[in-house]
Amino acid sequence: MDEAWGAHLPFHPGLPSWAMDAGADVCVTSIHKMGSGLEQGSVFHLQGDLIDPAKLKIRADLLGTTSPSVLIYAGLDGWRRQMALHGRELLGRALDLAAEVRTAVEAIDGLHVNDRADLCGPGLADDVDPLPVVIDVSGLDTTGYRAADWLREHRHLDAHLADHRRISTQLTHADDEETTGALLTALKDLAHAAADLRPAPTVQVPDPAGLRMEQTCLPRDAFFGDTEDIPPADAAGRIAAEMITPYPPGIPAVLPGERLTEPVLRYLCSGVEAGMNLPDATDPGLGTVRVLAASDSAG
Ligand SMILES: Cc1ncc(COP(=O)(O)O)c(C=O)c1O
Repeated sequence: MDEAWGAHLPFHPGLPSWAMDAGADVCVTSIHKMGSGLEQGSVFHLQGDLIDPAKLKIRADLLGTTSPSVLIYAGLDGWRRQMALHGRELLGRALDLAAEVRTAVEAIDGLHVNDRADLCGPGLADDVDPLPVVIDVSGLDTTGYRAADWLREHRHLDAHLADHRRISTQLTHADDEETTGALLTALKDLAHAAADLRPAPTVQVPDPAGLRMEQTCLPRDAFFGDTEDIPPADAAGRIAAEMITPYPPGIPAVLPGERLTEPVLRYLCSGVEAGMNLPDATDPGLGTVRVLAASDSAG
């Protein structure tokens, strides 16, 4: 189970339950995300008898370094101690602060904070962590990319993530009224400056069904096959030989072996034009797309 963003969840009853309390056999948390660890401080949690600890270790060893950093281990231990001794108090304060911030952002014209009403329900999430404050800026008639660029350039404030209609701001136990005050002032200024952020390029997002593409062969056969790099304009109908993942959301839009379609290519090209980040594409600027060579194509 991917619990990357849940390092803090076990330490306050007001937070959603974490993977192990929800019955997972194994999960991974990134202590460097919602905790105070140093980057790369991710840990497994294991319970029950479905997963053999020895097998898990052997598999983790395949991916791990042989030169672990004592600083990372010390950071993990420091976080563990801090949470065991003060977690409830620190996270309680963070939750109060998050509630205030969410109300204050919602009161800014043109901004909407994604909350339970947007995210929970049948077929949706079961619960929401209030500390990540995800703000829909489409009411300002601009994109999250533009809003994030403006905040960085004019208020020296880095949004955690941005997409075509949202920015995400991340509160943790380390925030206080000073940091949230700076955030709220900057967001009010952003709303006043909205006219400067228009017109924003439109990202042509397909509906969920339009994002599904036909898998024509095993991903490994496409990835290790003969490939060529071609302009996206020529790529519809060809078999992808790479993974292309807009981040956020961090979910691949293209997998090796999928037959590329025009709506997905339009989504990615219009996205890159607007500021979308494609960290894993062979060409992150999408001048070309990597596809199976015509001679090697599954047809
Ligand atoms: C949902 C999710 N899982 C896993 C990861 C990767 O975690 P790590 O930084 O521990 O490699 C990320 C990183 O952003 C993530 O967002």
